[in-house]
Amino acid sequence: MQNVLEVKNLKTYFFTDEGIAKAVDDISFEIGAGETVGLVGESGCGKSVTSLSVMRLLKAHTMEGQILLEGKDLNNMSERELSKTRGKDISMIFQDPMTSLDPCFTCGYQMRETILQHHDVDKQQADKMALELLKSVGIPDPKATLRRYPHELSGGQRQRIMIAMAMTCNTKLLIADEPTTALDMTIQAQILNLMRDIRKEHNTAILMITHDLGVVAELCDRVIVMYCGKIVESGTVRQIFHSPMHPYTRDLLASLPSLDVKQDRLNTISGVVPSITALPTGCRYHPRCSVLCEACSREYPEMIEVEPGHKVCCHLCERKES
Ligand SMILES: Nc1ncnc2c1ncn2[C@@H]1O[C@H](COP(=O)(O)OP(=O)(O)OP(=O)(O)O)[C@@H](O)[C@H]1O
Ligand SMILES: [Mg+2]
Repeated sequence: MQNVLEVKNLKTYFFTDEGIAKAVDDISFEIGAGETVGLVGESGCGKSVTSLSVMRLLKAHTMEGQILLEGKDLNNMSERELSKTRGKDISMIFQDPMTSLDPCFTCGYQMRETILQHHDVDKQQADKMALELLKSVGIPDPKATLRRYPHELSGGQRQRIMIAMAMTCNTKLLIADEPTTALDMTIQAQILNLMRDIRKEHNTAILMITHDLGVVAELCDRVIVMYCGKIVESGTVRQIFHSPMHPYTRDLLASLPSLDVKQDRLNTISGVVPSITALPTGCRYHPRCSVLCEACSREYPEMIEVEPGHKVCCHLCERKES
């Protein structure tokens, strides 16, 4: 399978009053054509910064590494080339749909402008396409919706409009940052079905960022697990759910509520996520890890491939191998 996206040694650092914040710290991953990859991890681990870095939408103080979209490095592109690429080859659904739609313009206007940017059509044809797209994402009364401003719509409707806009572009890669978190269960299911349809129709590769491991199990082919700006484990959905290797992945899975067993209390991971301006030495998970060894607080472990396609960054896995 050819890779649509290859991220190599991406580092995104911010300078803050507390010191250097290593929000994304030397991560590498790839997404194949038509593949859906889930990016998971606790709040603050760098999921959104990763996606915004890939889109080159961040004003970080340090951004290093390569972001190869079908071999072209986005990190070396001029603003002009970039804005052509965004929307044409790569599109994004943001975590907060209210901030990504412009409150001053109607939804219809914003959709028309996006379509005109990416298709060789006139205004009338663009309006027709916008209407069709709204129908396809299940918006009730799509004609009236086109005349409305974003604040006149519900969160779920706004999110569906964002998805419709992302679909207009017919891109090779769609990045979706928590597209369903703010929505209720029935709308969540609709949105996930929509994403499945997009994938099937256009063979779009999807990077799906979510807290929700249930969504990952349902939608994704592969999973990347992040902790404190680092990738700690990656593999197929089966590998990650059936034989997780990193203690963090295991703890994350154990904190999922079970439908079969009635629990009085949910399992949580003990301790707190460290501040990214004061990261622990060695493995960043070691202060919370229940199976640590002597090397864990001393050295950062290397990423090793424990079986084809399954990579883990943990001293204990290294030991098992040798
Ligand atoms: N512009 C910025 N300046 C300084 N620090 C930042 C900036 N943007 C993000 N961060 C920090 O980078 C870290 C990663 O943030 P990010 O938004 O990627 O987390 P996330 O994994 O998406 O979390 P959530 O699940 O809550 O959305 C956080 O500690 C955040 O405070
Ligand atoms: Mg986020």
